[in-house]
Amino acid sequence: MIRFICAKDYDEMSRKAANVISAQMVMKPESVLGLATGSTPIGTYACLVERYKQGDLDFSGITSVNLDEYKGLPHENDQSYYYFMNDNLFSKVNIDLNNTYVPDGTIEDAAEACEKYEEIIAATGGVDLQLLGLGHNGHIGFNEPAEVFPKETHCVTLAQSTIEANARFFASKEEVPTQAYTMGIQTIMNAKKILLVVSGADKADIVYKAFFGDVTPLVPASVLQLHQDVTVVGDEAAFAKIAELI
Ligand code: F6R
Repeated sequence: MIRFICAKDYDEMSRKAANVISAQMVMKPESVLGLATGSTPIGTYACLVERYKQGDLDFSGITSVNLDEYKGLPHENDQSYYYFMNDNLFSKVNIDLNNTYVPDGTIEDAAEACEKYEEIIAATGGVDLQLLGLGHNGHIGFNEPAEVFPKETHCVTLAQSTIEANARFFASKEEVPTQAYTMGIQTIMNAKKILLVVSGADKADIVYKAFFGDVTPLVPASVLQLHQDVTVVGDEAAFAKIAELI
């Protein structure tokens, strides 16, 4: 089942997404949160930090597992997803860093890195709430359009469009890593609840395809139509093509 929550703009989207995460944390202080990077959730993390500072949220019992990481980037690299998480959330709240997990991009052997990450997720007892962004081509995590849905954590070669979209964060396009470790579709679908955040007119087409089109690995996010508990929080611009349908 998919629940759509429409916000007027990015800031309201961020607050509403933070509401969903806050509710999860309050109802289950030992929650395992699946986290995402990218530009969309930055405002959501800022709201969570704000609420923590106000004394309304407690991260001490929380465990987090991130969706993905560039292969080859160590934690200290300011473009690594670990660095992003530390910068936007971990260093600003009372989460125990020993309970925060991001795939280890420095493990050269992809099979070893991916197997290890699946073991970590299993050891947490499973993800209670998985936060996702949405790529322009429908990717979730780094699961790019493909012939089949990749199941578990695996190593991907990034699509050219993804490298170009991410180039804005690097000094040049050549510096964007070409591979990444990502949770697979099955890994993501195993989460008890899913929260997808989406903002901006440039995502309106893919929002329509992902949630009202065919379920196909050519649009990886479309698989979420088969999950039993999905909340999509988007702003009016991102929901422009589905406004009449929700
Ligand atoms: C991030 C991730 C990606 C992004 C997606 C959207 O961990 O896995 O799937 O969620 O590329 O990115 P933004 O939010 O920058 O548009």
